[in-house]
Amino acid sequence: MKQEYLGMVLPITISSIWWWSCLIRGVDASPQINLLNKGCSQYNATNLLDFYTNLNATFSDLKTQLNKNSTHFATAQQARGSDPVYAMVQCRNYLSAADCAACFAAAVSQIRNCSAANGARVIYDGCFLRYESAGFFDQTTLPGNVGICGNITASQATAFSAAAGKLLVDLQLATPKINGFFAATKNEVVSSGSGNETVYGVAQCAETVSKTGCQDCLNVAYANIQSCLPDTDGRAVDAGCFLRYSSTSFFPDNQTMNIASFLKTGGNSRKKAIIIGVVVGGVGLLILIVGVFLYFKLSRKPEAARRGDILGATELQGPMNYKYKDLKSATKNFSEENKLGEGGFGDVYRGTLNNGKIVAVKKLAILQSDRAKANFVNEVKLISNVHHRNLIRLLGCCSKGPELLLIYEYMANNSLDRFIFGPKRGSLNWKQLNDIILGTARGLAYLHEEFHVCIIHRDIKTSNILLDDSFQPKIADFGLARLLPDDQTHLSTRFAGTLGYTAPEYAIHGQLSEKVDTYSYGVVVLEIISGQKSSEIKSDAMGEFLLEKAWKLYENGKHVELVDPNLDPNEYKPEDVKKIIEIALMCTQPSAAQRPTMSEVIVLLKSTSSLENRALTRPVFVDSDKRVKGDTSTSTASSTSNATVSVSQVSGR
Ligand SMILES: *[C@@H]1O[C@H](CO)[C@@H](O)[C@H](O)[C@H]1NC(C)=O
Ligand SMILES: *[C@@H]1O[C@H](CO)[C@@H](O)[C@H](O)[C@H]1NC(C)=O
Ligand SMILES: *[C@@H]1O[C@H](CO)[C@@H](O)[C@H](O)[C@H]1NC(C)=O
Repeated sequence: MKQEYLGMVLPITISSIWWWSCLIRGVDASPQINLLNKGCSQYNATNLLDFYTNLNATFSDLKTQLNKNSTHFATAQQARGSDPVYAMVQCRNYLSAADCAACFAAAVSQIRNCSAANGARVIYDGCFLRYESAGFFDQTTLPGNVGICGNITASQATAFSAAAGKLLVDLQLATPKINGFFAATKNEVVSSGSGNETVYGVAQCAETVSKTGCQDCLNVAYANIQSCLPDTDGRAVDAGCFLRYSSTSFFPDNQTMNIASFLKTGGNSRKKAIIIGVVVGGVGLLILIVGVFLYFKLSRKPEAARRGDILGATELQGPMNYKYKDLKSATKNFSEENKLGEGGFGDVYRGTLNNGKIVAVKKLAILQSDRAKANFVNEVKLISNVHHRNLIRLLGCCSKGPELLLIYEYMANNSLDRFIFGPKRGSLNWKQLNDIILGTARGLAYLHEEFHVCIIHRDIKTSNILLDDSFQPKIADFGLARLLPDDQTHLSTRFAGTLGYTAPEYAIHGQLSEKVDTYSYGVVVLEIISGQKSSEIKSDAMGEFLLEKAWKLYENGKHVELVDPNLDPNEYKPEDVKKIIEIALMCTQPSAAQRPTMSEVIVLLKSTSSLENRALTRPVFVDSDKRVKGDTSTSTASSTSNATVSVSQVSGR
């Protein structure tokens, strides 16, 4: 789907009208609030109260920072509830604290005109303000970057272009090296004509970008502003930087900086070449400017040419809406032969769309109240924005029909359980299993720690881990537990959490944290290694559940014996397997606090050192006579309430 900010304004005429009035008023004491660029995301926040609460708190935080420190740059974020807000403000450093505050106030009032848009920006000459639903503070150049030119040609075009060209090259080179990424300077126009003309320029990068990020952004800005010459003024706007020149002074004279010292030690050879060229001067300079101009014209990235586009790409995209009748025919009326499986949230069917694309269609078995439907659309929007190679892509949904349907990418190899316990048992080699263990951890770490909303899966199990064509794992069904009303989630294992995989504090007390997934992950790893189902008692194992068995073997230092005898012992090193089993046991420790986060699990899996010194606490086992056999459709709600499950910690070592 094409993202476009609605209400894009590039008021070149407005700015030049302002420009003339400004000339009359004088420039020194002004917040410089002529609008250069504005955009509102076309997607609205999902929960308006959360959103406005976060937005207001963020803006007031920015305001406080500007006031208190009389700084020119601030970022803030608020992530309460469903609609996080990340915001950034930057004033040009030559503005006084009062002008900066005035520019910020104007920007806030302007940006609020975007109503509930979940991302927006306003760029003035004096400052810019932007917010998004996800972090963007390190962004530099984005599609939508643009040059904004004046409409008056300099009277001494050649001399002016030469002077302005040198000024811009200097600013472009020096600014990334200057602390705070801001430079304001001027250059005399050398001409045969009468009168001294001067060209003024500023460059600025967001203070949160890297030096190279600042450089990259200014390179693009320079390319954009070049085409304004020989106009008397020009500006280039982008997500992470700003560049402006004018024949009229637009900053107080005492703010002029001498940037020569930042130009001496050129970095790479191209920069050096430019500096040397500039020093040569005269004809050489003109040739150089034409050359640089051509260089950027020719090498301009295609997206840089998409003028007036987005300049802030992080807003959520909408999911695709599918028609019920198309999905019905794609799945042959949800026929039994097209059924891929039955999950906790509903049955899944294979569907072939009109364009030949194969998808997986999930029929959601949840209540269809109006509230549930509204919630559904919001959650689907959220889930469809989760992009990670170890997570199944949600392609779209269908909420207008007798059932709520979700459309996912199709995985021909189906789910991991078939390769571990099912018909294809033994067909994956050690390396493939190892990749699945690591990939699953990566997918979970993304959901917990990297996506802008922490998504707890709550139902990690081998049948929810699908395998792509090259047997890389892709976690399915994430985010769906969020569709359930808050008070229902832990009561039914059919919906959230499956017996044998569920962390004790969640199964019994409903205490939810991302460590609930860590626990289930640990169980899955033990299943992968052993080829034994967690909920199944093997006849050869003295009536022990997998977790108990693994623990006892570990205590006796014999945990290598847990490995599935079908695995070729030549494929793995015993110490590697031992380490993975120890990590799995660490994940299934009784106290959630003792379990590692998923990013820690990744570090442990990838490290080559052993875990010898880690003290593990024995897992909690549900008392053996109250065990419920592994029937995943049985609700633990009844077992927890009727049979008062007693939790005993088997005596430690
Ligand atoms: C946010 O601030 C605006 C403007 O000050 C105000 O109208 C609105 O009620 C506030 N909303 C919340 C949720 O605080
Ligand atoms: C907000 O939009 C309304 C209607 O389009 C307009 O009249 C008003 O001036 C705008 N406010 C700002 C601060 O731009
Ligand atoms: C620059 O000049 C203005 C008056 O024009 C003055 O208020 C300000 O303090 C000066 N700033 C510096 C850094 O000298």
